[in-house]
Amino acid sequence: SGPEVYTATGEHLDADPTVRAQKGSRLTNAQGTRLYDTDHSLKAGERGPVLLQDHHLREKITHFDHERIPERVVHARGAAAHGVFRGYGTASQVCKAAFLGKDVETPVFVRFSTVLGNRGSADTVRDTRGFATKFYTSEGVFDLVGNNIPVFFIQDAIKFPDVVHAAKPHPDREIPQAQSAHDTFWDFVSLHTEATHHTLWNMSDRGIPRSFRTMEGFGVHTFRLVDAEGGTTLVKFHWKPKLGVHSMVWEEAQITGGMDPDFHRRDLADAIEAGAFPEWELGIQTFPDTPEQTFRGIDLLDPTKIVPEEWAPVQPIGLLALTANPSNFFAETEQVAFHPGHLVPGVDITDDPLLAGRLFSYIDTQITRLGGPNFAQIPVNRTHAPVNDMLRDGLHQSGVHSGVAPYQPNSLDGGCPFFAGAGEGAYVETPVTVERASKVRESPASFADHTSHPRRFYLSLSAVEREHVIAAYTFELSKCYEDAIKQRNLRVLADIDPGLCAGVAAGLGLPAPEPSAPLADVEPSPALSQLGHTWPTD
Ligand code: HEM
Repeated sequence: SGPEVYTATGEHLDADPTVRAQKGSRLTNAQGTRLYDTDHSLKAGERGPVLLQDHHLREKITHFDHERIPERVVHARGAAAHGVFRGYGTASQVCKAAFLGKDVETPVFVRFSTVLGNRGSADTVRDTRGFATKFYTSEGVFDLVGNNIPVFFIQDAIKFPDVVHAAKPHPDREIPQAQSAHDTFWDFVSLHTEATHHTLWNMSDRGIPRSFRTMEGFGVHTFRLVDAEGGTTLVKFHWKPKLGVHSMVWEEAQITGGMDPDFHRRDLADAIEAGAFPEWELGIQTFPDTPEQTFRGIDLLDPTKIVPEEWAPVQPIGLLALTANPSNFFAETEQVAFHPGHLVPGVDITDDPLLAGRLFSYIDTQITRLGGPNFAQIPVNRTHAPVNDMLRDGLHQSGVHSGVAPYQPNSLDGGCPFFAGAGEGAYVETPVTVERASKVRESPASFADHTSHPRRFYLSLSAVEREHVIAAYTFELSKCYEDAIKQRNLRVLADIDPGLCAGVAAGLGLPAPEPSAPLADVEPSPALSQLGHTWPTD
């Protein structure tokens, strides 16, 4: 038998009498009063008017009226599973986090998602996929909130509302639901060429995964790991699926989406139920934490860039296995709240300006989505570490806190434990030196190259993968109403690869523009092709 899975729900629901009450032979109202009939409203006579005094009727309908919560502003459609992460101990030299220790087992909850479709949209659309993992570690919750594409559309979080507005359905007709087949998306990405790399990944086979089980995952940003002596290393996180990386071809995705819009969530749940537990290895690319925070000329703070695996191999540090389906979609998959700022000692952030905005955005949106500031108390979000946080009250507070002095230090509630040498095991931010500089609203010059990385990606693909990219751009751009937008996108592609540009231009029946500058001189990275994908260790 596999390792024991700790389900967050199981542990907490058992202790909650109001939830357990939905069992047994007696039907009651929410107050526990036994009902004799739940099928008929109270009326003045069989054919008479319904009476306002029917509290059961009003309670039942009122609760129903409030069953829905807002869907996520992005990544609304998702599927999730419980599992366990086992550290290999190989990261211990660079990271002191307890959960990465050798053979340490940590319960996890993983949610996969599409980004743009609404909660009821189809699974097999062309889109980026979310790959968010909550590790319930002994030192607190660590969330690795990643995607199946290693780069992002924008370099600065202040552009996030803009890119999402452009990519979501048009505000007048609320169409299209599909990611990319519309003018605003293609308008945005051609006017913001930093989006080219991500867009190219979307137009490649990576945009239509065969299964969540066959997707890679990426932390995207560069993170900073801290070892037991305080030494630091810059890293990029990678999830490598044991089943390999596989996609659908476009026609398969269309047919599958039509016949079974739930294809990916069904596939995940069925596999787990059948005992075919999907597995991923977690790996890290490591880079010296130099003041420049660059590696071979690549700015590690730029989330539109990757470091080829041939230059910095992915080193396996642990194994994730998904072993149990959620028992209730709403309680777990819908109410789980990830946050890139949920970190544990040993894992720290960098100054990537995209990450900075994320650190604000998730908790902010969750206060609306989950109805107040107490969503950390929802079973699936509860840490498995002891909590002593001084937070009080607020909507949906379910804790009954004791004591009279919710502040520290205090002299009323048993002294000042925080100041009594409890620093051991605490999360301490890395004392990174911040240069004294003028306030600016500018990007660094190192963020200006928008072509060499997409060019490397395209050149790394096999012939058939390139054909798929050309077909995808042609199909999606052909849906734009504005010719000027198609032409502007062709100019972007001309700076990536003339063959790509010519192929799409031919498909659209438009002339292929010349590159605006000499093409970047880059070597392909075979690991970027799905066919050249490097497999995890056995
Ligand atoms: C949700 C990934 C950038 C705001 C998500 C989710 C993932 C994700 C996986 C779904 C979480 C879940 O399953 O519940 C990423 C990645 C990014 C990125 C990898 C870039 C590298 C951003 C940025 C912002 C942002 C820049 C805002 C400035 C949000 C919001 C949600 C979300 C508001 C909804 C959260 C919720 O309602 O619980 N993101 N995201 N994301 N993301 Fe991001």
